[in-house]
Amino acid sequence: MAVNAGRLLARLEELSRIGDTGDGGCARLALSDEDRAGRDLVVTWMRDLGLDVQIDGIGNVIALREGREPGAPVMCGSHIDTVATGGRYDGNLGVLAGLEVIETLVSAGVTPRRAMAVAFFTDEEGARFAPDMLGSLVYAGGMAVEEAYDIVGIDGARLGDELARVGYLGSLPCPGLVPHAYVELHIEQGPVLEAHGEVIGAVTGVQGISWQELRLGGQFNHAGTTPMAFRHDAGLAAASVAVAARRLATELGGDQVATVGKLDLRPDLVNVVAGLATLTVDLRNTDGDLLARAERRMAAEVDRIASEEGVSVERRQLARFDPVTFDERIVHLVETTAREHGHSVRRLPSGAGHDAQMLARMCPAGMVFVPSVGGISHNPAELTTPEHIEAGANVLLDVLVHLAEDDVVA
Ligand code: GLV
Ligand code: MN
Ligand code: MN
Repeated sequence: MAVNAGRLLARLEELSRIGDTGDGGCARLALSDEDRAGRDLVVTWMRDLGLDVQIDGIGNVIALREGREPGAPVMCGSHIDTVATGGRYDGNLGVLAGLEVIETLVSAGVTPRRAMAVAFFTDEEGARFAPDMLGSLVYAGGMAVEEAYDIVGIDGARLGDELARVGYLGSLPCPGLVPHAYVELHIEQGPVLEAHGEVIGAVTGVQGISWQELRLGGQFNHAGTTPMAFRHDAGLAAASVAVAARRLATELGGDQVATVGKLDLRPDLVNVVAGLATLTVDLRNTDGDLLARAERRMAAEVDRIASEEGVSVERRQLARFDPVTFDERIVHLVETTAREHGHSVRRLPSGAGHDAQMLARMCPAGMVFVPSVGGISHNPAELTTPEHIEAGANVLLDVLVHLAEDDVVA
């Protein structure tokens, strides 16, 4: 049995036309009109396949196919929301490959012992409503739906209102049904597999993530008349935080990464010293203790910079997730399946956050990675070759069938 790669690629192409940014990319921020249109299209495909499509209280969509025996399904999936500068593969591949796996089984007349499910989770990106992996976090019981509804997005919208507006406020309770196992196919989004000429990644886990928003309050003042020693420049403080973040990651070395990716200055005018800076700091490390150390060092740097410039600091934690280790039996199954298919395979941790890390709270979970050309992602130039997409989808197919038929994690 093998997937129909042409059908999978055609669906990826069709979905990418929704929110098309005109430069090869997609913008479907969570619970936007574009996200709604993408959801509607994927739900149509799920229903056309005869799947039982269910929507839960946070808008996660779960499509089920019965097995020969009753019981928990083997689940796959990912997300179809994107960042504003998204590519066409991040998340979408995992959902549409999952759909393709089920369609392959349906076409072949094969019904595995266990039920199967393909899901897409709400707001994985966290780019509009923080934290990231929100839908799968709520699915796994890590946040109450009521708390999630009250999250306010970067555009001032309330998540619960947007969920109702786009028509995806479902009735299925959260936390959701506990799967027998969960496996997610995803593009690597980094350079490792390509650099080593490898086709499949057996993902060992996901690094810890810390997102913080800082509001630095200085004093608006005239850019021409205010001597340098009299300034409380929020813009300078924000720039210093960005420099300190880079320096910290370089000094700590290893897997530590640090990013200031969002910065807003007020009043944002050529001849006014900035009085307010709102910025984000994204820190990640595969080691939980090292991540905590980076957070402490960053906090001390921010205090030092603020006091030197005479600006106030307000902090808001947007996301905080410890590193996650995937189930060894699934990592091993991905590895051996890839080898059986004749592919080179590498064990590696994920640098990006994924819904699988939330599902790992409830059931044995793992991931399959395929290479990203140039290691580029969250960028319209994001690309994974058709050959690698086909290879990943076929590995996913066999991994899911093994989990559904045998007692790999029973
Ligand atoms: C979200 O998927 C992230 O890794 O930022
Ligand atoms: Mn993703
Ligand atoms: Mn992403």
